Amino acid sequence: MENIDWGNLPFGYFKTDYNVRCYYRNGKWGDIEVSDSEYINIHMAATALHYGQEAFEGMKVFRGKDGKIRVFRWEENAKRMQRSCNGIMMAEPPAKLFKQMMLKVIKLNEKHIPPPGLGAALYIRPLTIGSGPQVGVKPAEEYLFMIFVGPVGPYFKEGFSPVNVQIVTDYDRTAPNGTGHIKVGGNYAASLRPADRAHKEGFSTVLFLDSKNHQYIDEAGPANFFGIKGNTYVTPDSHTILPSITNMSLRQIAKDLGMTVEKRPVALDELESFDEVGACGTAAVISPIKKIVNRESGKEYNYCLNGKAGPISTKLYQTLKGIQEGEIEDKHGWNLIVE
Ligand code: PLP
Ligand code: COI
Repeated sequence: MENIDWGNLPFGYFKTDYNVRCYYRNGKWGDIEVSDSEYINIHMAATALHYGQEAFEGMKVFRGKDGKIRVFRWEENAKRMQRSCNGIMMAEPPAKLFKQMMLKVIKLNEKHIPPPGLGAALYIRPLTIGSGPQVGVKPAEEYLFMIFVGPVGPYFKEGFSPVNVQIVTDYDRTAPNGTGHIKVGGNYAASLRPADRAHKEGFSTVLFLDSKNHQYIDEAGPANFFGIKGNTYVTPDSHTILPSITNMSLRQIAKDLGMTVEKRPVALDELESFDEVGACGTAAVISPIKKIVNRESGKEYNYCLNGKAGPISTKLYQTLKGIQEGEIEDKHGWNLIVE
């Protein structure tokens, strides 16, 4: 084990020993290459650089107290990577290739998997780019699928402590019939300006509204939104939201805990009626929200009045983490144990 301050890692880039790559050329995927360089050599006319042919994923690997190494729900990430590639006309990495490369890169960087109990994980970042040249607006003929990894701490520096978020109406992360439902780089480029302004104005992230009428809740920056009302878990349904694997898992955990689950449009006014609200995602896990401010109207919604996460968000968080770290029975078979 390296001398790393595992308990205080930020969510950021961390150089590890190896990454893995595979090219798609002449209609087929080639051999897996292992590299110790952090750089790629790319054609200046690659479509990733001009026309945004880029899709990525994010997963986490946990080292349990039992010494086992677990990857959470990788098949769902592999499927979403395929949907993202398909959505912007890129070659789709097959699930088998995804798994082989993922296991290889985890094993090659095993010493960077954080020890248990410190809130850290090894983050896996797969990405596919159009690497072949085009000048006309057309898909590339060559693609590069890569995976790098790095140990990370919580996405929001507050960890599981409640955060403030800002509703904006003068920016949208995606268009109504755009690419919000897939994980492509352009959506994140569109979110940078409002996110930067929100940070400068004292908020952890932006709560985007539906891009058609700004009447419904969409997403909380790089995470899905959920609200708790009595014994019901409510999460927005919309074509512009990225289907979060964490949210999907929390809906199942909520059902397992005997809660009712509703996935439906959530009107802005409904924010008044939630007992607890939060953001969820691989990086964010669950970030409880204590205050939501509508930047345009100035209206405020307050939660966590005692300064702490609510009881249901806490239970959901502990159950999810418990399954991921091997402390709670994985009855749905979500973890892959890396041998
Ligand atoms: N929404 C957006 C826009 C994201 O970038 C992410 C992160 O992947 C999520 C939601 C959460 O999805 P997941 O739980 O699959 O990580
Ligand atoms: C994740 O939660 O894995 C993400 O990809 C969010 C991210 C954009 C940092």
